[in-house]
Amino acid sequence: MESLYIKLREQAAVHGQEHVFRFWDRLDKTGRRRLLEDIGNVDFELLDRLVQTWVLTEPPEEHFRHIVPVPVIPPVEPGDTGAAAALKAGEQALRDGRVAIFMVAGGQGTRLGFDGPKGSYPIGPISGNSLFQYHAEKIRKLQELYQVTLPWYIMVSPSNHGATQKYFEDHDCWGLNRTDILFIEQRMVPCVDPDGKLILEAPGCLAASPNGHGGCIQALVEGGALEDAQRRGVDILSYYQVDNWAAKVADPYFIGYHCLRQASMSSKCHRRNDLREAVGVHCLCDGVYRVIEYSELDLYPQLLQVDPEGEPLFYAGNPAIHLLSVPFVRDLYAHFIQFPWHKAFKKIPYVDQEGCVYKPDTPNGYKFETFVFDALRFTAHAPVALEIRRSGEYTPIKQFEGVNSVMAARASMAEYWAAWFEAADYQVPRDTEGRCAVDLEVSPAFALNREEFLSKVKGKPFHLDSGIAIHADGSFTLGESTVSSCQR
Ligand code: UTP
Repeated sequence: MESLYIKLREQAAVHGQEHVFRFWDRLDKTGRRRLLEDIGNVDFELLDRLVQTWVLTEPPEEHFRHIVPVPVIPPVEPGDTGAAAALKAGEQALRDGRVAIFMVAGGQGTRLGFDGPKGSYPIGPISGNSLFQYHAEKIRKLQELYQVTLPWYIMVSPSNHGATQKYFEDHDCWGLNRTDILFIEQRMVPCVDPDGKLILEAPGCLAASPNGHGGCIQALVEGGALEDAQRRGVDILSYYQVDNWAAKVADPYFIGYHCLRQASMSSKCHRRNDLREAVGVHCLCDGVYRVIEYSELDLYPQLLQVDPEGEPLFYAGNPAIHLLSVPFVRDLYAHFIQFPWHKAFKKIPYVDQEGCVYKPDTPNGYKFETFVFDALRFTAHAPVALEIRRSGEYTPIKQFEGVNSVMAARASMAEYWAAWFEAADYQVPRDTEGRCAVDLEVSPAFALNREEFLSKVKGKPFHLDSGIAIHADGSFTLGESTVSSCQR
C-alpha cells in the first residue's frame, strides 16, 4: 500500500489535488485502502480537461449557420407499404439473432428518491410489479414470438450494480436465462468544487457520480457486451432507459427501417407538447445530426419557431430510444475522447476542515456527464428518425407526481390498455372528463399488443369496476379502489 500511496500522492500533487489526502493520518487501514482506490480510479487527464473547459472557463459557444428539422419517418399506420417492408426486414433481423436488448440503468434516480435501483420501483399500481419485471416480460415474449435468444445488456453503476444483480437473481430473472443477461458497469467521474478541486464526501471517500448515459459506449466495450454480441452474431443494440415503463423493446418496425437504410444509429422521436417542453430536439446543424438540449434552446431561436397552426416547426422531441450498430459503437469507443461532456451544478455532500460531513441546501459543486444522443453527430449519413406516438411507448418516470412521473405513467398506461379492453367490448369506468377512472395493467407476457390481447380475452369474465391487473398466465388481481365519479 505504501508505494501506491506515494505514487498517487505525487500524481494528485502534480494535478493540484493533494488536499484529498488531508485526513490520511486519521484513516484506518480500510479507510486508507478505500481512498487509494477512489484516487486510483481518477482519470487525471480527463479531470484537468473538464475543469479547464467547464469550471475555470466556459467552452466556446457553438454557432451554426443552418439549423433545419431532421427528416422524420411518420408514425407507423396499418396498410402503409413502407412500414410493411420495414416490418418484414425487422422481423427477419430478429429471427436471425442479430438483435440484443440494451437497457441503461446506471442513473442515481435522485428526483424519484426511491431507496433501491430505479428499475426495482413497483410501477404496477395493482400488481406491484417492478419496471425490471415489465421489461423482462417483454423480452420473454419477443423470444417466444421470434424463436430466438435476445441477449440483455444492462448498464449499471458501481453504486447500484450489486443491488440490481441481486434483485434480478432474487426474482429468478423472471424466467429469462441468467446466462443471457450481462450487467456492465459504467465509469464514475469525480465531482469538483467551483475552483476545480476534488470534493471529499467523507474523510476517506471522493464524491463521484456516474458518467452519464453516454458512458454506455465505454461500458459496452469494457464490460464485455460488445464482445459477447459479436460472438453471438448480434450487430444491432436496441437501446432504451430503465425508467421508460412503456418502452417497446426491439420494435421490429424500427429495426427494419434501421436495417433497410443501413444506419449506424437510429432514433425514435415524438412531437413536442410545446416549445418549452423539457426534452431535447432532433435537428440538423450545418448538415450534422444533433440533439439540442432544452436547456440550450435560447441559444438557437430557430428551434422556437412555430408553423402556421402554431405547432413547433422543430417538432421532433427526443424520447431516448435508439438503435446502435455494433461496429459504430466500437468506432465511437476508439474516438471517445471526442465525445462531448456536459456539466451540472448540484448539491454534493462534503466534509469540512474538521472532517464533519455536510449536506448542502444549495448547489456547491459540479457533476460531469456524457449523453448517448451526442453519438448521433458521429454518424456518417443522416440516421433514421422514426416518429412515435407517446401513448404505449414513452412514459419516463423522473418523480412521483407531476410531469414525467409515476402517477402520469400509470394514468397514461391505464388509458392505453383501456383502449384494448374497450376494443374487446369491456366497459371501462371513465370519469366525467372521459378519462379512465381505474388502474389497469396487462402483463406484456400475457399480451404484447392489442391483437394478441383481443385474441386472448374475448368473452372472459373480467370486471373492471375497481381496476384489474392481468398477469402473465392470464390470472388476474382486482384493484381495491373505485372512483366515485365514474360513469358506467
Ligand atoms: P436521468 O438523466 O433521467 O437520470 O437518466 P436518473 O438517474 O434516472 O434520475 P435523476 O436525474 O438522478 O433524478 C435517464 C436514464 O439514463 C440512465 C438512468 O438510469 C435512466 O434510465 N442513466 C443516467 C445511466 O444509466 N447512467 C447515468 O450516468 C445517467
